[in-house]
Amino acid sequence: MKNKLDKTTKIDTQTPEEEILFVSLRASRWDEFYGQDKIKQSISIAIEAARKRKEALEHVLLYGPPGLGKTTLAHLIAKEMRSNIRITSGPAIVRTGDLAAILTNLEPYDILFIDEIHRLNKAVEETLYPAMEDFKLDIIIGKGPSARTLRLDLSPFTIVGATTRIGLLSAPLRDRFGIVHHLPFYQHYELKKIITTAANKLSVPIDSDSLEILSRRARGTPRIGLKLLKRSRDYAQIKGQGRITTEIINKSFDMLGIDEKGLDEADRRLLLAIIEKHGGGPVGIETLAASLSEDIGTLEEVIEPYLLQLGFLKRSPRGRVATKHAFKHLKVPYQEEKIPQQNKLL
Ligand SMILES: Nc1ncnc2c1ncn2[C@@H]1O[C@H](COP(=O)(O)OP(=O)(O)OP(=O)(O)O)[C@@H](O)[C@H]1O
Ligand SMILES: [Mg+2]
Repeated sequence: MKNKLDKTTKIDTQTPEEEILFVSLRASRWDEFYGQDKIKQSISIAIEAARKRKEALEHVLLYGPPGLGKTTLAHLIAKEMRSNIRITSGPAIVRTGDLAAILTNLEPYDILFIDEIHRLNKAVEETLYPAMEDFKLDIIIGKGPSARTLRLDLSPFTIVGATTRIGLLSAPLRDRFGIVHHLPFYQHYELKKIITTAANKLSVPIDSDSLEILSRRARGTPRIGLKLLKRSRDYAQIKGQGRITTEIINKSFDMLGIDEKGLDEADRRLLLAIIEKHGGGPVGIETLAASLSEDIGTLEEVIEPYLLQLGFLKRSPRGRVATKHAFKHLKVPYQEEKIPQQNKLL
């Protein structure tokens, strides 16, 4: 069972080397977790109240695009509660027996972190309902007409669920979380603080203009900010004097194919596909995914949120539309009356 508890399956494309780096750069104290002030405040109050009442914290659901701090927050919540954290993920709990083993091993007030909670299967999810509501576990013993249900008492515990796809969570599961927070993208001044702290931890000198550029190109996402910092540090150490300067950043970003808005190759491919293959849109997500040979989930969860936030992309009932800003950014002349052009480019 132990390996199940330790297992987390990531949907993004971090390499193990980056994961190790991010663990060491991971905000390990509440005051190192910058931004998201409303969420922090509301969770802090709930934690204090729960501790005062000597109760488990209500179940917490965190959702939002990858890299915004859901896993980090789960660890910080456990720390504040002075509780143990058990880590698992939706796809790792295959059978109800797996869940039963996890739940019966929890100690009072433990935090059970379930990453990718939208990927729990139906049977497991239904076993979870009474556990979340009443700290009871119903186990079915035997089969057929002689089968009976045994009700076990569980220690009071808290589930912290994380998902990038709240829309895939069933309503009954969602409703059992007392504290639900959407993590929005970060402001650039918040990213600046996050990157500064990380640069200090890595002992890499960085000037203020460079900090400004890095934080503006981080797509509102701490994980990307930290990744860009690391890439620039590599470049500075190999091609420069070890110091991150604007020149170093520009060169390393050129190498990575990241432009001044923080868009990478995948973002530009998506926008160009809408513009050049589908006359600027609207185009249905299935068609778009097929023309890019990408999967719909990746488009919706990873690529689109930032383009929507920048105002480069719009979702309309008839499909995705590239906005005037997107045309301008990609230096494609904008036509008000767009004529669909099939397979012109790409
Ligand atoms: N508010 C923050 N302040 C400081 N560092 C942060 C903040 N949010 C995230 N980070 C850092 O960014 C990295 C990614 O965060 P984390 O792994 O918690 O994201 P996530 O939301 O769980 O992503 P995923 O959906 O891919 O699992 C970590 O190194 C974390 O320490
Ligand atoms: Mg995570």
